[in-house]
Amino acid sequence: MNILVTGISAGIGNAICKAAMQSNHNVIGLSRSQNAFEELQKYAASHQVLFKGVKFSHAHLQEENTEELYQVLSQISGVDVLINNAGLLEKQSFNEMDLHSLQRMMDVNLYYPMVLTRWLKTKALYKEHAHIVNIGSMGGFQGSAKFPGLLGYSASKAALAAFTECLAEEWHQESVTINCLCLGAVQTEMLSQAFPDYTAQVLPEQMAEFVVDFAIRRPSMFNGKVLPVAQNNP
Ligand SMILES: NC(=O)c1ccc[n+]([C@@H]2O[C@H](COP(=O)([O-])OP(=O)(O)OC[C@H]3O[C@@H](n4cnc5c(N)ncnc54)[C@H](OP(=O)(O)O)[C@@H]3O)[C@@H](O)[C@H]2O)c1
Repeated sequence: MNILVTGISAGIGNAICKAAMQSNHNVIGLSRSQNAFEELQKYAASHQVLFKGVKFSHAHLQEENTEELYQVLSQISGVDVLINNAGLLEKQSFNEMDLHSLQRMMDVNLYYPMVLTRWLKTKALYKEHAHIVNIGSMGGFQGSAKFPGLLGYSASKAALAAFTECLAEEWHQESVTINCLCLGAVQTEMLSQAFPDYTAQVLPEQMAEFVVDFAIRRPSMFNGKVLPVAQNNP
């Protein structure tokens, strides 16, 4: 399969790329920087699969600067799986919230997945029975425990969950399915920033294995579902 992953320089996204390649899938990784590309290319070579890194973020979509990504995806005849993993958390209380920060989180956590998801459709780059997996958060899962300072982040992830449900309805006659996994705590840089004194029981590699397994199964029983994936939540 061809798996497109956003936000691959670190954390869960980087681990998703490796887990997918371990399972013999080709990976196209999108990142703002090229720092991780060489390492992942070596990893791909050792697993005899393809890895192609493309320097890309939502700004490219705003500027219609999509030619390189289009060429790469056309050459491999499109994607079977899109994993919208890129995410941004900036901790701040509502009263003191910097509105630019709020905009940044909405851009990365909501706008980026939405416009990339639609761009692939407009360019006919989804293969038959493609599966879109949005990486949400327990912070944005309705009824979950909430924490001070995570309001903007949680609201953006809740919107991502709503986007998932709504798009499944709009595209119900398409062969593409879309689901949202609301992750609990995973030990990454993002978690350390949000909860400096907390140690998660789940490592990025463990979560990545679950995400890839769910994504490539393209489960026919799930479409438009918002699913909690958490042992516990700090
Ligand atoms: N860790 C947790 O406990 C946890 C819990 C629930 C949900 N999640 C979700 O899991 C996903 C991965 O998180 P993580 O914990 O692995 O975090 P991370 O280590 O901070 O990695 C986040 C990734 O998002 C991308 N990113 C960050 N800022 C960006 C920006 N301004 N524009 C475009 N891309 C940006 C980066 O990709 P590049 O540098 O490659 O561009 C980075 O690799 C996120 O969606 C996060 O919300 C994590």
